[in-house]
Amino acid sequence: MPLGLDKLDFAVLCSLALAVLAYFSKSKIQELLSSDDAIKVNSDSRDVVQVLRENNKNYLVLYGSQTGTAEDYAKKFGKEMAAKFSLNVMCADVENYDLENLNDLPSNVIVSLFISTYGEGDFPDGAIPFEDFLTARESGDLSNVKYTLFGLGNSTYEFFNGAAKRVEKYMNEAGATRVGPFGEADDGAGTTDEDFLTWKDSVMEELKDQLGLDEHEQVFEPSFEYKQISQGVSNEISLGEPTAQYMPNNKIEFSPEGKQVGPFDATHPYVAPITATRELFSSGDRNCIHAEFDLSGSNIKYTTGDHLAIWPSNPDEKIAKFLECFDLDADTVFSLVPRDSTVKLPFPVPTTIGAAVRHYLEITGPVSRQFIASLVQFAPKEDLKVELTELSRDRDFFAKEVTVKYLDLADALLHISHGAKWGSVPWNFLVESVPRLQPRYYSISSSSLTEKQVVHVTAVVENFPNPSLDDHQPVTGVTTNLLRNLQLAQNKEDIQKTTLPVHFSLEGPRGLFKGYKLPVHVRRSTFRLPSNTNTPVIMIGPGTGVAPFRGFVRERVKLLEKQPNTTLGKHLLFYGSRNTSDFLYQEEWPDYSKKLGDSFEMIVAHSRLENKSKVYVQDKLIERKDEIYDLVKNKGAFIYVCGDAKGMAQSVHAAFVKILSEGSEISTDDATAILKAMKPGGRYQEDVW
Ligand SMILES: Cc1cc2nc3c(=O)[nH]c(=O)nc-3n(C[C@H](O)[C@H](O)[C@H](O)COP(=O)(O)OP(=O)(O)OC[C@H]3O[C@@H](n4cnc5c(N)ncnc54)[C@H](O)[C@@H]3O)c2cc1C
Ligand SMILES: NC(=O)c1ccc[n+]([C@@H]2O[C@H](COP(=O)([O-])OP(=O)(O)OC[C@H]3O[C@@H](n4cnc5c(N)ncnc54)[C@H](OP(=O)(O)O)[C@@H]3O)[C@@H](O)[C@H]2O)c1
Ligand SMILES: Cc1cc2nc3c(=O)[nH]c(=O)nc-3n(C[C@H](O)[C@H](O)[C@H](O)COP(=O)(O)O)c2cc1C
Ligand SMILES: *[C@@H]1O[C@H](CO)[C@@H](O)[C@H](O)[C@H]1NC(C)=O
Ligand SMILES: *[C@@H]1O[C@H](CO)[C@@H](O)[C@H](O)[C@H]1NC(C)=O
Ligand SMILES: *[C@@H]1O[C@H](CO)[C@@H](O)[C@H](O)[C@H]1NC(C)=O
Ligand SMILES: *[C@@H]1O[C@H](CO)[C@@H](O)[C@H](O)[C@H]1NC(C)=O
Repeated sequence: MPLGLDKLDFAVLCSLALAVLAYFSKSKIQELLSSDDAIKVNSDSRDVVQVLRENNKNYLVLYGSQTGTAEDYAKKFGKEMAAKFSLNVMCADVENYDLENLNDLPSNVIVSLFISTYGEGDFPDGAIPFEDFLTARESGDLSNVKYTLFGLGNSTYEFFNGAAKRVEKYMNEAGATRVGPFGEADDGAGTTDEDFLTWKDSVMEELKDQLGLDEHEQVFEPSFEYKQISQGVSNEISLGEPTAQYMPNNKIEFSPEGKQVGPFDATHPYVAPITATRELFSSGDRNCIHAEFDLSGSNIKYTTGDHLAIWPSNPDEKIAKFLECFDLDADTVFSLVPRDSTVKLPFPVPTTIGAAVRHYLEITGPVSRQFIASLVQFAPKEDLKVELTELSRDRDFFAKEVTVKYLDLADALLHISHGAKWGSVPWNFLVESVPRLQPRYYSISSSSLTEKQVVHVTAVVENFPNPSLDDHQPVTGVTTNLLRNLQLAQNKEDIQKTTLPVHFSLEGPRGLFKGYKLPVHVRRSTFRLPSNTNTPVIMIGPGTGVAPFRGFVRERVKLLEKQPNTTLGKHLLFYGSRNTSDFLYQEEWPDYSKKLGDSFEMIVAHSRLENKSKVYVQDKLIERKDEIYDLVKNKGAFIYVCGDAKGMAQSVHAAFVKILSEGSEISTDDATAILKAMKPGGRYQEDVW
């Protein structure tokens, strides 16, 4: 068909037209606009070039992102290109478009690529088809394409910016031309923001030249038409429901018994009941929460070694401060209408400002210099404009005034203005500029053999005093403090007696989370036990790094129960904690040992016992070097490392290099190469963060 319209498209267009009409008459069909599905089909085509042309766009930004960082920078970049050069920028996830015709981009359109690296030098999950697309290109296939490239990575990982490096290689081979430098952000050095700014400055200079652009002072170009709605809160107004399927009028998604009907995935979380929670540390100065999520009835399957993604909401204190800072009214009802089909709604609308701040926006965490720069246009007073400009231009000044003080956005602005409000910053600018609140991943600590439908997680609570503030107001993590609040409430602990740094509403939108529930989804991993039970297993997981190994060990225990004649290879678990009070699942291990007999051994290193010197897991590995060498060299052992990527995983890797090189009398380079070669076959697996 000429316009690529099939019956479905036509039906959808009709319903959209209807919805638009209905919107202006504020009728019930309004929710159609806000449903995820309506947005997805908003553009008729998946062909990126066609969509670009149809929407009169003259600049393309594409991103591949796992946890939203690349997305955030891509959007910031796109916004700035639009604000400074009045370009019509299309910004999209590579996941959502076909790139087959990329070489037919108009010659004046440049594509800016933002790619993060995940796993072990891999593309983000959603960008794997993009990698397939690139590898299938032959020389010359992209010879008309001009691109800029910015990679997001963390140099503590072995394959630093692995995905972006491969994009560069494939683009090059296919004949595309890069504009400006290949930028590589390094989270490991904590310089992502600075790396971006440096790269951006030089790329923009180059783009100005190539495209003949005129720069003017930044003017915010909204991607959505913002509408304040005067009607009160009705069933069509989202109050923070994770997706439209949880809206009160959306009965289709519920079975007759009121059960939620899936499918559930990374964009449609399941609101799972939390059937049990408990505190795992006994010292009181730190907290670690064990939580059990019941997935029965959701049809979600998991395998031992997978991750659970938990969708958090923000704490009351941080919400209050954010609203106060920007002089916002939580009860205001608003909607957003995409200006064209290339922009997607960031969350279900219409909704209230309060719900958006609580459930949809990442209002805490470090602030970027870039963000401060984009606020200059809205500074309420001339002196603040000067101050913001200075902060955004001087990286050292910014670090000293904002970063090292652990200030989040509201903290930083109130600090800069000495407490005066920033009501001049438009709410729709905040909606478009503050990143979306992201789910957090946790290594599942149960075994799918033992707990088929119930997923356990082990989360250490992020809460430390801010050394730079006089009142030492703590720096807190969102999800882990939410879990701790939930644990205290569920176990009827006296919250008054406990000094909680932050408090949460546990009931959720319209009571959706009542009875202790949170939205979750399962992310598949490749962290798997060897299928041959005879294969020896060496597990290294200090601190919360022990989480997946509790799952592994429970799996082996269950297997032996079901098939008592199974023979198990040697299973060694190297665990480390500071003291005995933070020894995770201390009471469970003896039981596992009894059931697994000689095939299981746990080796424990404590680092802060009184009057004892620090002992780490890697010291214990070296102590047992002959046995480890034999297991790896002669018995085909599988090695698993989980937990802190920065210090621990690297030190453990170094210990294995030492053991192999000494055992085989080879150089450390050769030993490193052997370990590297073990990775693709799954013989050296890491689950580190
Ligand atoms: C694959 C994977 C598996 C994981 N498995 C586990 C696991 O099994 N167990 C586990 O406990 N964790 C695990 N994590 C880490 C987990 O996903 C979260 O990152 C962690 O729990 C913190 O989440 P949060 O929402 O509490 O903190 P966030 O809100 O994300 O905050 C992150 C950190 O920033 C700090 N912070 C807050 N405000 C500021 C500021 N203004 N400036 C600077 N810093 C600030 C917080 O105190 C906190 O330390 C895993 C991560 C990955 C990627
Ligand atoms: N970036 C960092 O420096 C760092 C360090 C630790 C944890 N973390 C992060 O903090 C979170 C929570 O960690 P957690 O509470 O589970 O761990 P934890 O309780 O802080 O640490 C567990 C054990 O690991 C030890 N350890 C610290 N550095 C090590 C290293 N380089 N090699 C081997 N062992 C080491 C600790 O010793 P000590 O007595 O020396 O602490 C402790 O005995 C994780 O997300 C982790 O990534 C970050
Ligand atoms: C589990 C995990 C694995 C990672 N693996 C790599 C890696 O192999 N190489 C790298 O350079 N960065 C790696 N990173 C760092 C991310 O690429 C970096 O934090 C980036 O800013 C994330 O961007 P995103 O939020 O858009 O996915 C990893 C991060 C995590 C959490
Ligand atoms: C081991 O047990 C399984 C099931 O219990 C049985 O099918 C199998 O024949 C047994 N094998 C041996 C060698 O006894
Ligand atoms: C270690 O734990 C023990 C009891 O578990 C406690 O008495 C002691 O104070 C702790 N030591 C430190 C340094 O935290
Ligand atoms: C640790 O050493 C100090 C000083 O030598 C001593 O007073 C204390 O009793 C010791 N503590 C333990 C638990 O041995
Ligand atoms: C980079 O990776 C290390 C190891 O996981 C981690 O400690 C650090 O926090 C990461 N940086 C950021 C900003 O995520």
